[in-house]
Amino acid sequence: MSVFSTGFGAAKAILLGEHAVVYGEPAIAAALSVGVTAEARLAPRSSLQLNQPVSKDARAALQRAFERALRCLDIDKVELQLTSEVPIGMGLGSSGALSVAVANALLGLKSQAASRRKHKVLSIALEMEKEFHGTPSGVDHHTSALGGIVTFKNGIARRLTNPRSFTLVAVLAGQRPNTKETVQRLRERQQLWPQRYRRVFREIGQLAKEGVQAIEQGDLEWLGDLFNMNQGLLSALGLSSPNIEEAVYRLRKLGALGAKLTGAGGDGGAVLGLFENPQDAVRKLRGHEVIVAHFKSDTLKPKKHNAVRA
Ligand code: MEV
Repeated sequence: MSVFSTGFGAAKAILLGEHAVVYGEPAIAAALSVGVTAEARLAPRSSLQLNQPVSKDARAALQRAFERALRCLDIDKVELQLTSEVPIGMGLGSSGALSVAVANALLGLKSQAASRRKHKVLSIALEMEKEFHGTPSGVDHHTSALGGIVTFKNGIARRLTNPRSFTLVAVLAGQRPNTKETVQRLRERQQLWPQRYRRVFREIGQLAKEGVQAIEQGDLEWLGDLFNMNQGLLSALGLSSPNIEEAVYRLRKLGALGAKLTGAGGDGGAVLGLFENPQDAVRKLRGHEVIVAHFKSDTLKPKKHNAVRA
């Protein structure tokens, strides 16, 4: 058993398929090079620190998630320091990243054998995500743990190849309700009108399936159109808002091939634009909180760092 260990979990952006993925449809997500780092130290008593302010409720959920993780590994007392490079609760997978980071750090204390480690990270992160999301599909923590661009359905993630480079520009469109609440409200609406909601989920799943082909064939115009249609369907599900729509239209006006909310949406959070040449848009967005993530063609040498806060 080690006394000190660190772990990292990548933030993510969902390109297509959020919410429908909770109902068994496929989604596509991409890991960012920025995320959450966890430093864990065996100590006389447990404590938890985070480098960003969060609401009282979020803090309580974090504490419960941490306790779940300790129970999973039968570890008693740990001092945990969390450093997030992404804004918490804005749709960029901070809770999935945090769960993967904590799982990695705690497993480091236990000196877990490498062969079992990936499986263990996923199972501990899932336990923690239940505290944050209620009924997580698993797309966030799988993407965080696996890295790269992935398609995910029903607990199984597969890495995609992208022959053409692209850039995602995420603009923050204000505060939003937590994911658990937004997912629960949507569940209540779909329970009232299951058939109609199911039709929309299926259509979103269809967009994600096409998205896999668009990415693997390097057809960014196709992918952009899928972003736009997905945004329309998320709006039909009641997950958009004036803040979000404003950011979507701004990104499209700045040349995005497509733009949509990413993550749970609801009333704000991150909005994603797909670009081939983002320089002009990023310059014009100066003064706004923006995260820029480059995904180099994987026929070129992979680049370790894909995301920066601009
Ligand atoms: C949240 O990042 C993505 C949602 O689809 C919820 C989930 O998949 O668990 C909204």
